[in-house]
Amino acid sequence: MPLVQTRRLTKSYQSAAAPVFGLREVDLAVEPGELLVLMGSSGSGKSTLLYLISGLERATEGEIHFGDQRIDTMSETELSLLRRTGIGFVFQAINLIPHLSLFENVVLPGYLVEADRAVVDARASELLETLGIRALADRLPAQVSGGEQQRAAIARAMINAPRALLADEPTGALNSSAGSAVLDSFKAINARGQTIVMATHEVKSACIGDRIVFLRDGQVRGEYRMADQAMPAAEREAAVLAWLVGQGW
Ligand SMILES: Nc1ncnc2c1ncn2[C@@H]1O[C@H](COP(=O)(O)OP(=O)(O)OP(=O)(O)O)[C@@H](O)[C@H]1O
Ligand SMILES: [Mg+2]
Repeated sequence: MPLVQTRRLTKSYQSAAAPVFGLREVDLAVEPGELLVLMGSSGSGKSTLLYLISGLERATEGEIHFGDQRIDTMSETELSLLRRTGIGFVFQAINLIPHLSLFENVVLPGYLVEADRAVVDARASELLETLGIRALADRLPAQVSGGEQQRAAIARAMINAPRALLADEPTGALNSSAGSAVLDSFKAINARGQTIVMATHEVKSACIGDRIVFLRDGQVRGEYRMADQAMPAAEREAAVLAWLVGQGW
């Protein structure tokens, strides 16, 4: 059973003339444990799809299933509980709380859910270790690099062990080496079983996916399954790029 499934998911906006579609009849299934990449140029609907799945925005039409729950019919209270515990979200704009240390940023949403702070602290340490920033735990966000900040934001999104981690252009604000460290972090947590859906418009970022779904004009236009993750990075990028060009990239 898919962890996330959308059926004819549509988001439209009213405008003076005809409605503008952010997303149009999208059918998407995300399997547990998958690292799924949403790829498409600016305006193709990537953020809209992630925001609908997380309940940050409401669909105009269609259904969103999360396990055996329906997201599109949930109340705001149910949605905020789901976002606190079931779904983690990582944004392009990193938005850590500036006067709290990385560690404090990570544990904060954990303390809201789990009364035993020692349990949360232990989990935070483990996450920071996995993401390679444990030595920086006591620094303020301004005292670490952008890539390190983003990895702290990933740890924060993971603190309540969400069933799905959604990320919207998580490397968009980073230089190439910081971006690579963040991509490696996604691979590391995916290898431990975390389901991830990541939106990007960069070929290099897209290559970490088990599967790439190509969006254009709010619709799914094609999908690519990574044949062999062991393929050298340059070959993989060339294969993905050739496929994208074939899709009208
Ligand atoms: N509030 C809104 N009113 C009208 N149109 C909107 C609104 N929000 C988004 N759209 C439109 O919906 C479409 C999809 O936008 P979306 O933000 O999902 O694209 P994206 O793929 O995330 O792009 P980017 O790579 O630039 O982040 C775009 O054409 C956009 O102009
Ligand atoms: Mg976007």
